[in-house]
Amino acid sequence: MITNPGMSSHRRLWIALLLLSASVATAHVLDDVDIPKLGMSRPEFLLDPARAVQASVAEDFVTFFYNQTLDHFNYGPESYTAFNQRYVVNSKYWGGADSGAPIFAFFGAEAAIDGDMANVGFLTDNAAQFRALLVYIEHRFYGKSIPYGMTLKKALSDPNIRGYFSSAQALADYAEILIHLKQKLKAEHSPIIVLGGSYGGMLASWFRLKYPHVALGALASSAPILYFDDIIPQDAYYSVVAKSFLESSSSCHQTIRRSWEEIDRVASEPRGLTKLSNTFKTCSPLQSSSELKKYLRFLYAQVVQYNDPSTQPLKLMCDAVNGVPPRKGLLQKIFAGLVAINGNLTCYVNAPPSGTFAQTLLGWSWQTCTEMVIPMGITRNTMFPPKPFNLNSFSNACKSVFGVPPRPHWVTTYFGGHDIKLILHRFASNIIFSNGLQDPYSSGGVLKNISSTVVAIYTAKGSHTLDILGADKSDPDWLVEQRKTEVRIMKKWLAKYYADLHAFGN
Ligand SMILES: *[C@@H]1O[C@H](CO)[C@@H](O)[C@H](O)[C@H]1NC(C)=O
Ligand SMILES: *[C@@H]1O[C@H](CO)[C@@H](O)[C@H](O)[C@H]1NC(C)=O
Ligand SMILES: *[C@@H]1O[C@H](CO)[C@@H](O)[C@H](O)[C@H]1NC(C)=O
Repeated sequence: MITNPGMSSHRRLWIALLLLSASVATAHVLDDVDIPKLGMSRPEFLLDPARAVQASVAEDFVTFFYNQTLDHFNYGPESYTAFNQRYVVNSKYWGGADSGAPIFAFFGAEAAIDGDMANVGFLTDNAAQFRALLVYIEHRFYGKSIPYGMTLKKALSDPNIRGYFSSAQALADYAEILIHLKQKLKAEHSPIIVLGGSYGGMLASWFRLKYPHVALGALASSAPILYFDDIIPQDAYYSVVAKSFLESSSSCHQTIRRSWEEIDRVASEPRGLTKLSNTFKTCSPLQSSSELKKYLRFLYAQVVQYNDPSTQPLKLMCDAVNGVPPRKGLLQKIFAGLVAINGNLTCYVNAPPSGTFAQTLLGWSWQTCTEMVIPMGITRNTMFPPKPFNLNSFSNACKSVFGVPPRPHWVTTYFGGHDIKLILHRFASNIIFSNGLQDPYSSGGVLKNISSTVVAIYTAKGSHTLDILGADKSDPDWLVEQRKTEVRIMKKWLAKYYADLHAFGN
């Protein structure tokens, strides 16, 4: 069924190799772009153990599979093919169809739904006071929702199948499932509020704009919908990373700033790469110094992006960096920071990614190589050497991996983004764009109120998607306050909806 006679065996082998070692090959081929991981899930090394345990209560969640349409936008024979799409329902708190109690729908993003469900405690924390039904829908091509029941590797290696992997198809999936669910529950007048974090937050806000008849409102947490098409400067993300390090500890910031040259210097010595591999206890010998530098850039980015008040990885890292005596050398300081974050492992830097993360890397590389072109680069920066975004080389890399060039203007063509206030002020309603300004992705978020109901709710100290994680006794007041504000706004949307419903004679 899924053959591709046109593909030469050389190319087939190349793709097979690429997909087998997604982390290494894709990361290498797509080295021209520095797009740090999106998503709500904290990298394993930054997990707060208390929160992880608390989130694993699963008995109220029932899993379903929806017979989903492969292609919502064409009418060719293959468009009508169906695949199983996973969604999970928690009806423990629901007030029922007769009372028009609301439905909260969480939009899966670039990962299997299980991980995000465990993370998005905001829903279970607040469902009772809204008497809300909770629904979690997995994004197509991730987890158990891959067409033809394939693995992602296999689906992505077939040019006839991977083309159905897009955000527009994903939003249409969500609409179909939510309409189906309301019919099944006879809940015609149960308003739906959609919610997502990061890429899932972008989807939630876009869904409210495209499907107002399905979603009454959207909570879009840490959604960088403006990080496209040069709406914001390409270096915005890494500027925040550098600023956060500088504010946390200027000596730590300076150590990192000086380390890049030192890494290159050591690498250029005879047997220099072996020396570096030993210093950093790499899992396999380094092939180049840029392999190490890329790893470190991402690590620093993640430390800031997920700098949650409960785990404080930034402080943890900088304390370790600063704690190494100068006589031990610059690179030992860098290594100490790395160990502080990862813990004592047998090796570092180029360990193969875990199964679920490997899937995310692979799927997201397709998404960024087609439509999610986030032109992120480093230009003038106080902590990192320049590494400007180069669309040409990015495009060539994408073509060599997937055979198609990216469409860098498609997101803004289809969803907008330019002049967002001017455009949405009179058109849109009922969207919360929440952010934490510590999160480097907040630089691409909506940080100004667009209208009385399209609002920006941010905190100065928050991290990536922090507001939609589960509440914790140790949460600082500003976080508690942010969540309360969000709840209050959602209640207003619902009150207006019920008033309208009544007034319009339903
Ligand atoms: C799923 O949908 C397809 C296409 O509409 C249809 O042919 C198939 O019978 C459906 N399968 C189930 C189990 O309902
Ligand atoms: C790693 O091991 C060393 C020595 O056993 C110990 O002092 C240190 O606290 C450990 N670090 C972490 C992050 O677990
Ligand atoms: C936007 O409006 C909301 C609700 O009125 C308010 O709480 C919030 O502080 C405003 N945000 C900004 C960035 O002004």
